[in-house]
Amino acid sequence: MQAPSLSTKRLLLRQWKESDLPFFAKMNRDEKVMRYFPSPLSTKESDSLAAKIQKELREKPYGLWAVEVVSLGVFIGFVGLHYQDFQAAFTPCIEIGWRLGFEYWGKGYAFEAAIKIVNYAFKTLKLKEIVSFTTLENKRSRHLMEKLGMTHDMKDNFKHPKLPEKHPLRPHVLYRLINQEI
Ligand SMILES: CC(C)(COP(=O)(O)OP(=O)(O)OC[C@H]1O[C@@H](n2cnc3c(N)ncnc32)[C@H](O)[C@@H]1OP(=O)(O)O)[C@@H](O)C(=O)NCCC(=O)NCCS
Repeated sequence: MQAPSLSTKRLLLRQWKESDLPFFAKMNRDEKVMRYFPSPLSTKESDSLAAKIQKELREKPYGLWAVEVVSLGVFIGFVGLHYQDFQAAFTPCIEIGWRLGFEYWGKGYAFEAAIKIVNYAFKTLKLKEIVSFTTLENKRSRHLMEKLGMTHDMKDNFKHPKLPEKHPLRPHVLYRLINQEI
């Protein structure tokens, strides 16, 4: 089953289109957007990431949805759910994640999409828990996690296993959100 489209007041969360790729590549080479990732991405890397994202969204009832602002008819990035199974105390898990083009920050779009997705994850998918993680300094992302009601316990802090031992972005915080209805 592929992930359904979801709608909010201002946004359409949908499957990806070929025409999303140029803007996705532009945001992935923007150092502001990629500040808390090891490096910006080349167009080839961005296209290959988009292909992986599309595969999950086509094969599962969830994934990282392409976010479109309906009134503008533009693709602005992704928000969604992703299955993670790298080696860590809290995996396997389903994480909620987001990445928007810089010009679309500060408008409440990420929060609006994320709230809808949390609702879908808990009410339709009936997930018991979703997590989110980021580097310690990624204040915008952490702020969003906190607005969603996610909580952070210092005991869950971890070193991202996919980054080299001394990499400055390796220390990560983990936020959790428990489904109170199941
Ligand atoms: C993380 C990220 C998605 C956050 O985006 P954002 O736009 O800051 O997040 P929000 O949707 O919560 O919007 C933020 C602000 O928009 C404001 N806003 C403006 N107009 C609004 C409206 N109509 N409705 C709601 N909020 C509005 C809000 O006040 C909010 O600020 P506040 O929470 O301090 O009140 C974005 O910074 C990003 O893409 N970062 C790069 C990728 C990244 O680091 N991802 C995480 C890796 S783990």
